[in-house]
Amino acid sequence: MRKKIMNSLVYQIWPRSFQDSNHDGIGDINGIRSRLDYLASLGVDMIWLSPVFTSPDVDFGYDISDYRDINPVLGTMEDFDLLIQEAKDRGIGIMMDLVANHTSDQHEWFKKAMEDKKSPYRDYYLFRKGKNGKEPNNWLGLFGGSAWRKVEGDEYVLTLWAPQQIDLNWRNPKVRHEIYEIMHFWLKKGIKGFRMDVINAIGKHPDFPDKNPGKKGYQFADDLIVSRPEVDDYLKEMHEEVLSKYDGLYLGEGMLMTKEAAKRFCGETTNELDLMFQFELALIDCGPLGKFDFRKLYRWSIPEFKKIYIDWQLDAQKNHYWIANYLSNHDQQRAVSHYGDDKKYHKESAKALITSILFARGTPFLYQGEEIGMTDLAFEREEWQDFEAKNIYGQLQSMMHVPAFLAEKIVKRKTRDNARTPVQWSDNAYAGFSTVKPWIKLNPNYQKINVEAQEKDPNSILNFTRRANLLRKSKDLFTFGIFEPILQDHREILGFIRKDDNEAYLVLINLTNKPSTLELKEEWCGETILQNVYNPQPLVKKMVFMPFEARVVKLSQRI
Ligand code: GLC
Ligand code: CA
Repeated sequence: MRKKIMNSLVYQIWPRSFQDSNHDGIGDINGIRSRLDYLASLGVDMIWLSPVFTSPDVDFGYDISDYRDINPVLGTMEDFDLLIQEAKDRGIGIMMDLVANHTSDQHEWFKKAMEDKKSPYRDYYLFRKGKNGKEPNNWLGLFGGSAWRKVEGDEYVLTLWAPQQIDLNWRNPKVRHEIYEIMHFWLKKGIKGFRMDVINAIGKHPDFPDKNPGKKGYQFADDLIVSRPEVDDYLKEMHEEVLSKYDGLYLGEGMLMTKEAAKRFCGETTNELDLMFQFELALIDCGPLGKFDFRKLYRWSIPEFKKIYIDWQLDAQKNHYWIANYLSNHDQQRAVSHYGDDKKYHKESAKALITSILFARGTPFLYQGEEIGMTDLAFEREEWQDFEAKNIYGQLQSMMHVPAFLAEKIVKRKTRDNARTPVQWSDNAYAGFSTVKPWIKLNPNYQKINVEAQEKDPNSILNFTRRANLLRKSKDLFTFGIFEPILQDHREILGFIRKDDNEAYLVLINLTNKPSTLELKEEWCGETILQNVYNPQPLVKKMVFMPFEARVVKLSQRI
């Protein structure tokens, strides 16, 4: 049986941009504490906190220099202990972000490894000799450029993300046990789980062969670093030594997640993790080379969206593994701008997308601001804060020969800065996020789109999200029940049935900005119990769904 905790609504907080409490323009832990009542009112059961550990912030916390302390920019250990306690008082658990594939180059382990070649810390990382005056192999980093950072003479160290994020050597049992001890440290404090950063990349091919030897170009070394068999061994060991000893939710994040790998890592009986993220929907408009491969930009279709969504649902159900359902996070565009219509149908499409997250089989995730429909912002190039954006802008031009104007256009659309603008709490100065100018540009639409205004409007995205989540939580079948797609060939409407032995519900979502006609079976024409457009027509066999109309329908008989 799946853990009960899987029916949690998980809310991701990216601390720098959530709420500032000490007037420095940067969100912090005490800011989060001041918003716990709000999160409780939303029905949040679990907060996934993006990293709050000590970090030089090259990649905003995903480069950790001390795993046992709090980043002073965000607060103190006392603040964090209070956060755990005050969240717990409201029935909310804290899930931390374990970045264990790499450390910052400012971490003690790396400093010691650099000071002394004989140090045992040398083998905590992946130092290798260069080949013929070049890098040890042709692997590329995920943020662009070679995956190897030159340390001295002919020696390099592997850095798959930024050059300041140094990959750990998981083959070394000492490294693994250091990480397990860190996990015990935080779990003993009372946190309720981990989201594990790029966890499927912790096992690398031991021989570091070239990828596609002889070929030029963009090479991620995918099969040499992604979801390799070693990862299962490490995760099983971690489960045995740490996870099995605490009650919590253990979630994996990893690039190029396939269904086969998800089944391996979070199958019901595999004793590794509880659930995984997949990135196929996030990458729906990206070419085969990833997020900045623009050849498909704006050219994805609703049938493609439906297919990815339904295939994952059915595969997880059939093969007994568990998934996280989400459309936004700190690395992606805002859902309403990515898949919806953030202008004419802002409200309707934001609600429709949230419906698709909350009523799928699996554990639902919302990202800060998604519950009010926060949108992307057209950042100017000088305003980019994101390491990836700045780096890729240059790489697109130098390695892929993309002209500057086009590189700028692509990065503007895809920069992670879009997700990282401050949460819009009110129409006061700086959106109620801070009393001073925030560290990153604020979206000027905060005057219209903000929590305070939506609190007052019963039909707001915020209040819809509350209602929808209450409905979801009222029936276990919405989390755990059977998922059965209908209208699979319909080009605009996503439809599925959720049911258990006693009851059945129908979910219908028009994913387009046009009215859409659909034909329903007699037995599907039940009573609408949740809807996102006003004055909906009763459900009849042949009908028109309004742009982005979404409904949950209670069926009168079990089907
Ligand atoms: C994950 C994080 C991302 C980070 C990267 C490297 O993908 O979500 O923000 O940059 O890992 O740690
Ligand atoms: Ca602050």
